Amino acid sequence: MALLLAGISLLAAVQACTVTPVEVPGGCTSLPSYDSSSGIAGPWIVEMNQCVNTTAPDKACSIEGFGSEAVYLLQQGDTSVQRGYIAIVSENDLAKSPLRCNDATDSFESYVPSGVSGYEWKSVNITDMPYSAQLMWGLGQYSLPIQAYYHYLDGVKQDGIFLGAHNVTSWAVQLQDGSAGSGGKPYWLVRLLGPGSADPVTGAELEHGEYKTFIRIYGS
Ligand SMILES: *[C@@H]1O[C@H](CO)[C@@H](O)[C@H](O)[C@H]1NC(C)=O
Ligand SMILES: *[C@@H]1O[C@H](CO)[C@@H](O)[C@H](O)[C@H]1NC(C)=O
Ligand SMILES: *[C@@H]1O[C@H](CO)[C@@H](O)[C@H](O)[C@H]1NC(C)=O
Repeated sequence: MALLLAGISLLAAVQACTVTPVEVPGGCTSLPSYDSSSGIAGPWIVEMNQCVNTTAPDKACSIEGFGSEAVYLLQQGDTSVQRGYIAIVSENDLAKSPLRCNDATDSFESYVPSGVSGYEWKSVNITDMPYSAQLMWGLGQYSLPIQAYYHYLDGVKQDGIFLGAHNVTSWAVQLQDGSAGSGGKPYWLVRLLGPGSADPVTGAELEHGEYKTFIRIYGS
């Protein structure tokens, strides 16, 4: 009997930790720093929130609160920057790239390197590959939009507004070696842990070296 009760309270504890994402209604209007004359909310940094270090005994995550940066990708034959990742910085004093919500393009946008030497606001999407739904700009048609969500716990709205898609706000982050597009600094690549994102062979939710996190709009 004691064992059964222990089992039940454990289950309750696990479920209590599971928040329900609910899409923020009204396009950009409910997001921080919304300006009705421009139809734009932001710009703001997005940051790691409630990240879990599955390999640390106390689950403490050293990159909690670290912000977003743009890491451009140059593929063979590219003579200018067309696309890249919205990633998380590996040192929080590195330069960040802001995001904003733009009603005119009905999307989140980031201020990113573009062309030969410029910077522009570009729409940010996730790829349409469930297993590697990375957050990127310049994706085009093979991509899905992201949304803003509130978190509810046992019917109670929690602090914060979070990025996600498919009613999922959990992301995996994994450290990558520095490249030209990251100014030579390592960076944390993010992918959505949405439907079909588990490893197709092992069924594992996270790959080796990946940690789980929410991505919160700073100031929300
Ligand atoms: C996670 O925990 C491991 C083991 O304690 C540690 O080596 C690593 O630096 C931690 N990573 C983060 C991101 O907290
Ligand atoms: C983002 O995804 C939407 C929906 O699939 C698509 O219409 C749009 O072109 C994509 N935008 C970019 C910049 O990839
Ligand atoms: C997200 O949840 C809402 C409310 O339960 C539901 O109406 C909607 O269809 C869901 N969207 C997706 C993509 O699952």
